[in-house]
Amino acid sequence: MDSHIQQPSRTEVWKMFNRVAPRYDLLNRILSLGIDRLWRRKMTSFLPPREKQHVLDLATGTADQLLSLFENRNEIKSATGMDLADRMLHIGRKKVERAGLSDVITLKIGSATDIAANDQEFDAVTISFGIRNVADTTQSLREIYRVLKPGGRLLVLEFSLPKSPLFCNIYLFYLRHILPKVGAFLSKDPYAYRYLNETIETFPCGEAFRRILKLAGFTAIAVHPLTFGIATIYQGDRPE
Ligand SMILES: C[S@@+](CC[C@H](N)C(=O)[O-])C[C@H]1O[C@@H](n2cnc3c(N)ncnc32)[C@H](O)[C@@H]1O
Repeated sequence: MDSHIQQPSRTEVWKMFNRVAPRYDLLNRILSLGIDRLWRRKMTSFLPPREKQHVLDLATGTADQLLSLFENRNEIKSATGMDLADRMLHIGRKKVERAGLSDVITLKIGSATDIAANDQEFDAVTISFGIRNVADTTQSLREIYRVLKPGGRLLVLEFSLPKSPLFCNIYLFYLRHILPKVGAFLSKDPYAYRYLNETIETFPCGEAFRRILKLAGFTAIAVHPLTFGIATIYQGDRPE
């Protein structure tokens, strides 16, 4: 293990993403076999049916989720992406520029637990593969609720564990033994992809996360498992 690479504390996980930023997109494509693109597109189909939406994407990273939203829906008027890792945002900005979307997408440094936005500012808040990395989920959901307009929608895309015991065991073998090795080799960060499997195994998924959304005050909650349940989209509305 490289001596300069340290395991980050739960509140400083974003520093790890700064380290892997240059290889993050490539690793995503390889380790998910490209399926993450389909999941991101699926997220866009659950946006609320509103014209001229203002969307906030938290833990936006290299902006893949935002770009997918703009590729697939034309009701979005403007979007803001926030993340704590400036190197992830730097790559995201270049991609936004290449897509010709710099006038409608703004990427800025910002925390998912202390959102720099006014109350009731957004029609939708999205967070893809981010909520698992945020140290205080409850505080983040409280903040998301605050910045959503009444009737606005939260969409969370996150890894989960399959319900089928057979498929779950095969997936756990991949997560524990294959992904950390391939991830460490390609990212040159021995910790990053060990962290991935540890957090996927411990983060509440399915009905457990539905209960968390309910406790946070969201209504009309829906849970959409994807690809045998290895990822899930959660949807919840701030009541009118
Ligand atoms: C797995 S990446 C996901 C990036 C992107 N959403 C995607 O779908 O590819 C997780 C991101 O969460 C960010 N992050 C971690 N904790 C955060 C926090 N408290 N506030 C904002 N971003 C955070 C990291 O910097 C990292 O870019």
